[in-house]
Amino acid sequence: MKLVIINGPNLNFLGTREPEVYGTQTLEEIESKIQEYAEKQGVSCSFFQSNSEGDLIDRIQQAHMDKADGIILNPAAYTHYSYAIHDAVKAVAVPTVEIHLSAIHARESFRKESVIAPACIGQISGFGATGYLLAVQALKESTNSGGRK
Ligand code: DQA
Repeated sequence: MKLVIINGPNLNFLGTREPEVYGTQTLEEIESKIQEYAEKQGVSCSFFQSNSEGDLIDRIQQAHMDKADGIILNPAAYTHYSYAIHDAVKAVAVPTVEIHLSAIHARESFRKESVIAPACIGQISGFGATGYLLAVQALKESTNSGGRK
């Protein structure tokens, strides 16, 4: 099974960015934690981070071209207004889990809405970096049980 883990704007600043909200682990540390967890389950992972909407869309499309089995996507602030990323997720029909480190529904009101979640098979938020591992598990089980859309 092949998964692509895509992180959006400002997540390259994890570790120093608002640690009281996002924790102290760097993106690199989170990625190696995911890698280690996934490997144990025979899942291979590719990682991508960008601050640009177009690059995120290109990587989502690439996941389709590469016949990835799933995408774990933290669209960061694009979550709340990028119809272009919503459309990309819909277009590729690769099962996608939206993930947030923080509990977006317990924060400012603009963060409560995700325009991307309706294109995803599910959303995980509020469990910090553990959320990425939960997403690996969720994709593994939903694709095994024929739970794909
Ligand atoms: C985030 C939540 C978003 O609202 C915010 O813009 C981010 C990070 C999270 O992982 O909690 O950049 O996606």
